Formats: sequence, structure tokens, C-alpha cells
Amino acid sequence: MSASVRGVGRAPGKLILLGEHFVVHGAPALAVPLLSRSVRVEVIRAPDAWRVTRGREHLERMLTTLGEDPTALSLAVESTLPLGAGLGSSAALAVALVRALRLAEPADHEGVRALAHSLERLAHGNPSGIDDTVCTYARPVWFVRGSRPEPLDIPAARLPPLWVGVTGVGASTREAVAGVQRFKDADPARFEGLLGRARELAAAGRAALVAGERDALGAAMNANHALLQRVGVSCGPLDRLVEAAREAGAEGAKLTGGGLGGAMVAVAPPGLDLEPALQAAGAARVLPPAGTDTTGGAA
Ligand code: PMV
Repeated sequence: MSASVRGVGRAPGKLILLGEHFVVHGAPALAVPLLSRSVRVEVIRAPDAWRVTRGREHLERMLTTLGEDPTALSLAVESTLPLGAGLGSSAALAVALVRALRLAEPADHEGVRALAHSLERLAHGNPSGIDDTVCTYARPVWFVRGSRPEPLDIPAARLPPLWVGVTGVGASTREAVAGVQRFKDADPARFEGLLGRARELAAAGRAALVAGERDALGAAMNANHALLQRVGVSCGPLDRLVEAAREAGAEGAKLTGGGLGGAMVAVAPPGLDLEPALQAAGAARVLPPAGTDTTGGAA
């Protein structure tokens, strides 16, 4: 069979600014797309043209889940998103694949998201859906599990500078989510208190993001990091990067995504370069804010 392209799909990564983990238990979360980094999938109508360096088995399972015949298709996958770092690579892959297969109209965000969510279940077990939502909408999103997501009308140019520090420590979201569940089971009343505080911080952070108030956003992020430490999903490498970003002048910093490794995010004044401080504190990679990221955003 000659190889012809059936479709191409692309999706950005994501940064959770407030509410990861607590979102699994019903609190709202606030997330923005990581537009400078993306996953691109090309679906080829030939079984012998695979262009992936790893994860082929998982991709074949994704195709089967979507009702496609993996023996009739090949995939070419390219990613400028660091993998397994809490930056949405698995959700971006799911969204890009659904788009490339043309299983929903490109503008039908809810249709794309529902299919991508079924793929995220393969990767994470019981995901809240925030990752696939942000990667689909490619816009800031206010997300409450089980409710229709609320895309926020904030143009990318109006977002504050957001720096990402990747620890280089591999982490399993599934394990981190299970750890928080154990914390909750051991002391439900204490967890309920933290959950209430997480709700307040998400609301405060949303108002600050919409108003462009970096100080208030940073304060909410700092307090949210403390909650994540309490439920046991931070770690030394993350805490060191968070601390270094704050000391270097960031208004706020916290882990982002599943934690136990992965990445952190910091909000900082325009023009402030956090890279030296993050590198000195052990970052394996630093992703500068959108617009200044010239290190690999051209997927
Ligand atoms: O997949 P990650 O590491 O970006 O984390 C997703 C966010 C969690 O709240 C930890 C899990 C979820 O399903 O919402």
C-alpha cells in the first residue's frame, strides 16, 4: 500500500496554575496552555511507516480505543514538550491524535475533548480531565470536575510571564494521585480543610489572572504549593526550584501537575530572567515564558 497522509493534528502542553490534585476531589482548578510547546501527530494510511522512537504499544492501544485498526495505519509523532514532566504531554498526544484522525470537527472542542479523555484514562486511570481540556481548548480554562469547562477570555499576550523549571526527576501521576487519596483516607477532616483552602486559592488566582495582578496570583500560587507539600506530592528537587525562583524575584512559584518530580511554574516580572537561578538550583531544563522561548517551540 502506498503511504498517504490521512490527517495531521497538533495540541499544546499545559500548565496548571492552581488546584492540581484538589481538582480530583472536586475543587476548581485554573490552567493555561503552554503554547510554545506542542505535540504533532501525522496519521499515515500504511501499516509500515511508523515514525516513533518509543511508546508504539501505547499508541496502538490508543488507536484501538478509538475504534481504528492499528494494522492499517502508522503514526509519525513529534513533540517539543518534555515527556512525563507534568506539562500535559500525554493529553496533548491524545488531542493531537484525535484531531489527526478527524474523529471530530476541529471546532467541536467538546467532541475532541471527550475522545481525548477516553485516551487519558488509558494513561492515568482516573484523570480529572483538566489536562485534556486545556490541551483541546488551547486557552486558559477554569475547570471543575464533572462540569462544562469555562474557557477564560484572556489573550496569550495578556498572560503574565510564566517560567517552567523541569526537575528531571521522573514521576508517576497515578502514584501521586494514589498518595493523596491515602492522605485523605487517613484524615478526612484535615483533608477537607485543605480542600476548602484550595477552593479559595483557585478563586483568588482566577480573579488575579483576569485582572493581570501578578502579586495576587503569585501569593495564591505560593500558598497552593504549601498545600501540595502538606498532602505529600512535593519533593526536594521541586522545593529547591520553587525557593530559588522566589528568591530571584518571582512573585510566586509552585509545583505544577502531578508532582513527586516533574516540573514547577513561577510567575515573574516582565524582563526578569529566572534561568540562572533555576539552573543553579538544579533544573534539568528551563522553559522561558511564551514569546521568549526560542529553545524548541517549533513542533
Ligand atoms: O498529568 P499531570 O502530571 O499533569 O497531572 C494532572 C493533574 C492532577 O490533578 C494531578 C491529576 C488529574 O487528573 O487532575
